[in-house]
Amino acid sequence: MITHENCIFHLRTESYSYLFRVNGYGILEHLHFGNPICTSDAAAFTCVPGLGWGGSVLLDEQDTGSCLDALPLEWSGSGRGDYRESPVELDGKATDFRYVGYEILDGIVPMALPQAKDGGETLVITLEQKGARLYLYYTAFETALTRHVVLENTGKTSIAVTKLMSQCVDLPGHFEMTSFHGGWIAEMGKTTVPVNASRVVNESTTGASSNRHNPGFLLGESGAGEDHGRVYGFNLVYSGNHYASAQRSLQGLTRVMQGISPDHFAMTLAPGERLETPEAVLCWSDKGCNGLSRNMHRFVNEHIVPKYWRYRHRPVLYNDWEGCMFDFNHRRLISLAKKAKDIGCELFVLDDGWFGQRDHDKAGLGDYTVNRKKLPKGLEGLSKEIRGLGMEFGLWFEPESVNIDSDLYRAHPDWALTDDFAPVLGRHQLLLDLTKAEVRDYIVENVSRILDQAQITYVKWDMNRHSIALGAKAHAFVVGLYEVLDRIFSPRPQILLESCSSGGNRFDLGMLCFSPQVWCSDNTDPISRLDIQGGLSYLYPQSAFGAHVSAAPHAQTLRTTPLSTRGNVAFFGVLGYELDLNHLLPVEVQEIKAQISFYKANRKLFQFGTFRRSENGWQVLGGDVAIASVFHKQMDAAPGYEQLRVPGLTAQRPYRVRSLEQTLRVGQFGALVKHVAPVNLDPNGVVLRTVDHHYTMPDGVQTCIASGAALESGIMLLPLFRGTGYDKNQRTQLDFGSNLYLIEAEE
Ligand code: DGJ
Repeated sequence: MITHENCIFHLRTESYSYLFRVNGYGILEHLHFGNPICTSDAAAFTCVPGLGWGGSVLLDEQDTGSCLDALPLEWSGSGRGDYRESPVELDGKATDFRYVGYEILDGIVPMALPQAKDGGETLVITLEQKGARLYLYYTAFETALTRHVVLENTGKTSIAVTKLMSQCVDLPGHFEMTSFHGGWIAEMGKTTVPVNASRVVNESTTGASSNRHNPGFLLGESGAGEDHGRVYGFNLVYSGNHYASAQRSLQGLTRVMQGISPDHFAMTLAPGERLETPEAVLCWSDKGCNGLSRNMHRFVNEHIVPKYWRYRHRPVLYNDWEGCMFDFNHRRLISLAKKAKDIGCELFVLDDGWFGQRDHDKAGLGDYTVNRKKLPKGLEGLSKEIRGLGMEFGLWFEPESVNIDSDLYRAHPDWALTDDFAPVLGRHQLLLDLTKAEVRDYIVENVSRILDQAQITYVKWDMNRHSIALGAKAHAFVVGLYEVLDRIFSPRPQILLESCSSGGNRFDLGMLCFSPQVWCSDNTDPISRLDIQGGLSYLYPQSAFGAHVSAAPHAQTLRTTPLSTRGNVAFFGVLGYELDLNHLLPVEVQEIKAQISFYKANRKLFQFGTFRRSENGWQVLGGDVAIASVFHKQMDAAPGYEQLRVPGLTAQRPYRVRSLEQTLRVGQFGALVKHVAPVNLDPNGVVLRTVDHHYTMPDGVQTCIASGAALESGIMLLPLFRGTGYDKNQRTQLDFGSNLYLIEAEE
């Protein structure tokens, strides 16, 4: 609900209140963003600057309350006394936008850029200065609000825009900024730094939202933790260069702004033209980072992902990439598909290598002719046979890119995005210039044709080279991409789109508006994924995480991890398998079948349950059922007791807690097997190897009844291996071991 009373605007939902007022100078003063309050409380939040601040500039010399530098603002400019960072720069001159009026509208106001949809109420504030108008949009959704601005040239001469943020706000308090950084196979590393007088910046300049700096970040009040304290969350519905900063003023106000990165940004607005910024998302919780994540997850699930896929369960897929790379043919794919079906997969995805001369990554991108040497029956024939096996068929594309060694580049070298210098390649490829209508048409026509011919129900949309376009062109590229995605997928809402950019190099809310899930990382090592998926979980729901079980040792880390842990980590996302199924041992096939059937039985909970990061793992909760995991990295000798805390259940209700059965590979004990085997076996011998391939030993299973209150307090888990031999009543965990607990209400 949005109200306007005595110059005070109040966006109020059950989760938050957001208040600001128009002061006597037509300046918007921020009052409160936090717990729901009454509008009548506004006076209690008003800042009174007092006697001025030495040499500060006053709008009115008689009024110390007119010192812009000292006020908490909703928007600002430069050259009028506010020396803090300005959210706008026009013609390199001072700006002075003042309030003109407002409108409150039902629902959202449609934008050209992707935006949060369905529900909400929108407040539009109009500000004006000579020759320009600025419209500030605020849409209130239940657990988050969005802000963006539109700048309109109302004058007679052009305006050079070099910076225009989506939102700017001054929040009182001491904060720490948590942001997420990394690179290929090392996405979403969490960094927390205090926000003080020096500006903290989170920015991408690669042309995409990037794995270097995800656009989403948190501002937690000092001392806030996972389950306690006040935390703000911010994100941007945009896939291009982004910018966010936080800086604390002498008065104790932290200015936070977000928008398109001003790096090299320059756009000319002719008279009458308008420039729209992407939507910023603002969220708040007083229940710590987990509370904030819950609010963000709900917002993304209900207002960002395409409507058809909201809370719609996602299939368990098999992807051939890590198993085959470019080396496959029709027969090999069908044999893999049969095995994938047998273990329980529902969707078979053919990754890179199906078109043109794409036998390696140096050629073929841009060409849409099926490679008949590999696929003599074409995609139609392949897809028909796969569907005949009872599975859906999905296909990989990389439509934004072109190899120099491709028919497309030979025919249209001018379609590649280049600058005035010799082309520089990334993964041997260039980007196509999506700012050109003919390029967009080429992609839309070709991808659409293939989707319809081969009855494709899933698309992996990859992008492995980032833009070198700068400024306005970088933005126009992203706008072109959105147009392409919209034209292909809006008429085909039932196609499940998974976007990817060398893994998570474009994991953002802009892409999620089209693709309900995103490939988090080419790194599927479960221990790395604890950080990658764990980092993403702060801002994105687990239904958005493409999470696959792959081979061990792992291709990116060389780490060997138990199959159980690979499954237990991938369960907390959209489960898939990506390894050569011909190389599985009989014991592994059995284990994978059990994993997939457990996941399917609990898929709704894993994909859409309320997610929580705990001291020792991840948890999902849905009504009176929960699944909790415990992950171990390096095991210590003589480990201590371990507890499982699961808050959020009904305190007085009894619950049955049962750990998922896990098995131990005999071979992993090497020479130690002599302690449990009746005969002395050679640890490197053929007998032990054969036994290892076919038989496993059961690990400790824990079953107990505990109340919701006891689970909230923390129940004791079975002891861990303590160097005294195998025992069925303990958890014999090696490094990288894990457990999963199913907690269901007792009838
Ligand atoms: C990069 C992706 O992240 C991988 O999953 C795979 O699709 C390759 N591209 C194919 O070239």
